[in-house]
Amino acid sequence: MQIIREAGHLPDALIALRAGAKSLALVPTMGALHAGHLALIEEGRRRADRVAATIFVNPLQFGANEDLARYPRREEQDSAMLDEAGCDLLWLPQPGEIYPAGFATTVSVRGLSDRWEGEARPGHFDGVATVVAKLLCAVRPDVAIFGEKDFQQLAVIRRMTLDLQLGVEILGVPTVRDADGLALSSRNAYLSADERERALALPQALNDAAERIRGGTPVGEALDAAKARLGDAGFSPIDYVALVNALTLEPLERAAGPTRLIAAATIGTTRLIDNIAVEA
Ligand code: PAJ
Repeated sequence: MQIIREAGHLPDALIALRAGAKSLALVPTMGALHAGHLALIEEGRRRADRVAATIFVNPLQFGANEDLARYPRREEQDSAMLDEAGCDLLWLPQPGEIYPAGFATTVSVRGLSDRWEGEARPGHFDGVATVVAKLLCAVRPDVAIFGEKDFQQLAVIRRMTLDLQLGVEILGVPTVRDADGLALSSRNAYLSADERERALALPQALNDAAERIRGGTPVGEALDAAKARLGDAGFSPIDYVALVNALTLEPLERAAGPTRLIAAATIGTTRLIDNIAVEA
């Protein structure tokens, strides 16, 4: 695997990488990699002849009191994992290259970015859309791969790519979970053993609500039961548990069309998000 640290070296590396290859996949990440990220690399290998990844802890998507400074940085371990997974090229952009002095342009996806995670984290999706647009423009992959774990992020990126006509296919990969059901996340490392155990209530409450909705329980009732379960497990605050349209993320009172159950809640000092499909 080739490692690029200077943006100036990227164009030649991409020309060499594309030589003899029909297609290139890109997997953007913020590092602290786990099996969820590696599933994206594997999907890239299935979908394209070459796979590139980026590791960039994007300051623009962190709020003032969020965990930018303590976000785990494990470059050596990450690059070994990517190499092993069959990634061909790793680009580690420097903040000053992505955001040069005087940087004043942001990409903002109205509507989709405003609710749920956007409400809890103002400006977050502008930061995500801006950096992903820049990474896609720099690498120009045929396909870019993201996890369903961050379901709203995936929806925002799909909309942004269509609106800016970037000509990149956006692929979503199902959430990779620990054996007991907790979605893998770099932030799980912040959980104490006790919190880790209680965090299981999050996927359990979502699964349970999905089953109830499939079985005909009124949506409001199923969501209230899920919130109560999270509260019992010690989650506080519970930012939202909602049934939404899978494309627009608008809240639904009845399951119709493509739907998703989404949730965000804090245990201890760690805010976790999760989501699942409702359709059987
Ligand atoms: P990061 O949190 O590092 O995640 C990188 C990619 O891995 C995202 O597409 C995310 O959805 C996916 N991912 C994380 N956990 C996963 C899991 N358990 N199963 C499947 N996929 C999982 O998301 C970001 O970084 C950033 O916002 C980024 C898109 C890189 C822009 O800065």
